[in-house]
Amino acid sequence: MNYKHILSEIAAEIEPLRTVGRQADYIPALAKVNPDRFGICITTTHGDVIEWGDVDERFSIQSVTKVFTLSMALSIMGERLWERVGKEPSGAAFNSLIQLELDRGVPRNPFINAGAIVVADVLMTQLANPEADYLDFVRKIACDDTIDYDREVAASEREKGYINAAIANMLKYYGNLENDIEEVLHFYFLQCSVEMNCRQLSRAFLPFADRHSEFSFGNVRLTSSQVKRINAVMQTCGFYNDAGEYSYLVGLPGKSGVGGGIGAVYPGRYAVATWSPRLNEKGNSVMGMKALELLTTYTRESIF
Ligand code: DON
Repeated sequence: MNYKHILSEIAAEIEPLRTVGRQADYIPALAKVNPDRFGICITTTHGDVIEWGDVDERFSIQSVTKVFTLSMALSIMGERLWERVGKEPSGAAFNSLIQLELDRGVPRNPFINAGAIVVADVLMTQLANPEADYLDFVRKIACDDTIDYDREVAASEREKGYINAAIANMLKYYGNLENDIEEVLHFYFLQCSVEMNCRQLSRAFLPFADRHSEFSFGNVRLTSSQVKRINAVMQTCGFYNDAGEYSYLVGLPGKSGVGGGIGAVYPGRYAVATWSPRLNEKGNSVMGMKALELLTTYTRESIF
C-alpha cells in the first residue's frame, strides 16, 4: 500500500476545508493556536512512519488523553473499574451535565468528561504520584521523554472550567468521587494539557493497533483482550454525539480532542494521528475526520 501517495492525495482533496469550522476557545489558551493547520502521520506495526503536513508542531491532546488514562485505570482495576463508570455510548455532548444527573452520578463511559473525571479520581486513589506516574506512562507509550504537560493550558482551563467543576460536584454528591474536588480537577486538567505532535501521537496509539505485541509500559500492563476492549470503547464512544457519524464515515476505533487531534487505529496494521484545530459543532476536527474518511475509502482498509 502506497500510503505516502494516498496521504498527498487526501491532503489535496481536503485543502478547501482548511478554514471550515472553529477552534475551541472555551479554554482561552487554545484560542491562541493558529487554526489553519493540518498534519497526519501513520505509524505501521512494521515501524514505518508516513507523514504529511504539520506533523512537528505540538498541540494539546485534550480528550485524546482519555485513552491513556483509561488504559492505566483498567490495568490497575480490571473489570472493577466498570462499577464506577459505564461503557455505553452517550449520544450527548462531551460535557453533558443533564445526562449525569439522569444517570445518578455514574457516567455513561470513560471518554466523556464526567467519566474521565471519575477515572482521574481512581488514579489519584491508586497511584503514589499520580502526576508523575501518568506523565511517565505517556512518555513510555509514545517512546519520547520530551513529552510534557502544558501547565499554562491546564491553568487556563481551570480558570474557565465551570462545567467540569459542576460535573465534579455532581459526582461528589452522588458518592462517585473519593478525592477532593479541586485536586481531582487539577489532575484532570493536567492530563488534558499533555502536548504531542502527530508523529508522537500516532506512535502512542500503535500499541492499541498491535495486539500481538505485549502491552507493557512500566507498571501499566494490559492483556490483548483488554486492548481489544479499549478499541471497542473508542469505536462506540470516542466521538461523543458524533460517534455514529464517525463510525459510518471512517470505520476505525479512534478518539478526538478539542485541541483538534485525533488518534485512531487500524488493528493489525497501523496507528494514525491527525491534527487540525478547526472543529465541527460536536467538537471534533473537521479536516481530521475528513482525512480519516478518505484514508479508509482510498485504502479500502477499515474494520468494517
Ligand atoms: O474537559 C474539557 O472540556 C477538555 N479538557 C477536553 C474536552 C475534549 O477534548 C472533548 N473532545 N472532543
